[in-house]
Amino acid sequence: MAAGDHPDKDTQGVDRRSFFKTGVLAGLGALTAASTLNRCDATASGRGPAPAQLFSVAPLKKVRIGMVGVGLQGTSHVRNFLGIPEAQITAVCDIRPERVAAAQKLITAAGHPEPRGYSRGSTDFLRLCDEEELDLVFTATPWEWHVPVCVAAMKSGKHAATEVPAAVTVDECWQLVETAEKHHKHCVMMENCCYDREELLILNLVRKGMLGEIINAEAGYLHDLRNVKFNNENEAVWRLPHSIKRDGNLYPTHGLGPVAQCMNVNRGDQFDYLVSMSSVSRGLNLYASRLYGAEDPRATQRYALGDVNTTLIRTVLGKTITLIHDTSTPRPYTRINRVQGTRGLAEKWPHRVYIEGKSEPHRWDDLADYYQEHDHPLWRELQQRAAGSGHGGMDFIECYRLIHCLLNGQPMDMDVYDAASWSCISELSERSVARRGRPMDVPDFTRGRWKNWPQLGIISA
Ligand SMILES: NC(=O)c1ccc[n+]([C@@H]2O[C@H](COP(=O)([O-])OP(=O)(O)OC[C@H]3O[C@@H](n4cnc5c(N)ncnc54)[C@H](O)[C@@H]3O)[C@@H](O)[C@H]2O)c1
Repeated sequence: MAAGDHPDKDTQGVDRRSFFKTGVLAGLGALTAASTLNRCDATASGRGPAPAQLFSVAPLKKVRIGMVGVGLQGTSHVRNFLGIPEAQITAVCDIRPERVAAAQKLITAAGHPEPRGYSRGSTDFLRLCDEEELDLVFTATPWEWHVPVCVAAMKSGKHAATEVPAAVTVDECWQLVETAEKHHKHCVMMENCCYDREELLILNLVRKGMLGEIINAEAGYLHDLRNVKFNNENEAVWRLPHSIKRDGNLYPTHGLGPVAQCMNVNRGDQFDYLVSMSSVSRGLNLYASRLYGAEDPRATQRYALGDVNTTLIRTVLGKTITLIHDTSTPRPYTRINRVQGTRGLAEKWPHRVYIEGKSEPHRWDDLADYYQEHDHPLWRELQQRAAGSGHGGMDFIECYRLIHCLLNGQPMDMDVYDAASWSCISELSERSVARRGRPMDVPDFTRGRWKNWPQLGIISA
């Protein structure tokens, strides 16, 4: 069976299992209705409405955190939280006891009480959720563990935050939305790329109206991970199997998150449908053959993942996004991040901007020339505190905003609906690729609320 050919999925990309599970549609087998049903409005899905207002909770005085998964990125987040006085890590879980011990050491060395450790196997996070009094469970585990950890956290009365992507399948995306709504908890996907300097600057230009009406964007995750996939530790352990089994955009949110915010997706607009195609797969075989020899199993392995996956997404209001995934070829890093409006366009790679009436006709300006006047207020306020933290500072800023929103009882910058609609692109792209690029409708996780929820404003520290 080809990747994406899930027996529960029909050819229109509808997850029939989740519809039938609700009971409302039981007996309605006609696949002709699928395209409409996939819009997942409240009545058709039997899920009830999403909240009328953006979700928020009463302010907290401090945020007690349980960390689940303290490998590379999880440990980096431990350091971020150590820089925020109201954040207190009181429990740590990892399947590898030595990683729990290392995180505990980091925390006590910073002058805090030792957090309780959990490392009795891959579901010990359930015990953490049961036994600990926490406000937030934060997971930086491999992709397939994000949803089980977040769901367990919310069911036990904690908010949840997860590394990217929040979920691997559309079903899982709905699980996050349903659990967050049922238990009245936040579920935040930590998309750090929404907090990098240029992404924030471009969002600021958009909010100031300088690019006009936004009509198109190009973004992606183009990162030579061949070494990472074969280095036998950390990400290699869990990332390589996805390249073996799946073909589509496996890591959509770094590119998609920032441009979705510029386009007010879920807050004024909505992803409507996508089409996706993948190139042939060559990069991993060539790389393994060069490194380990042509007969090595890593060189003869069949990798399902096409080297370059291109997905085109159209929103309900007619904006388009080209989203690329390319992690198996020799190439310099880029997320592109080009946002184009009726008055001009700006992009991060290369670093340039053109605004009609301001730039010389047909000539790019350097985006750095815009720092002084147009840096986003959040970046201005936090850049010094963020200096030296992961990924150029953006990781600290995202952790800061997560804690800030909890302390101030504010809606999250990125909520569970963003987590779901940005992450579901993975499985939908796989389904489209497996069906010669057929269009796949994107579920409306907001069930129509996107028409009224307010756009993300100019946030600050
Ligand atoms: N936002 C970013 O820029 C960024 C960068 C790197 C990684 N990530 C994301 O962070 C996550 C982790 O990536 P990483 O590079 O840190 O990988 P990693 O392999 O270094 O860390 C994962 C950790 O999770 C632990 N783990 C695995 N299963 C577990 C379970 N069931 N319960 C508890 N612990 C478990 C592992 O032992 C390991 O310590 C991934 O989702 C990845 O996509 C995001």
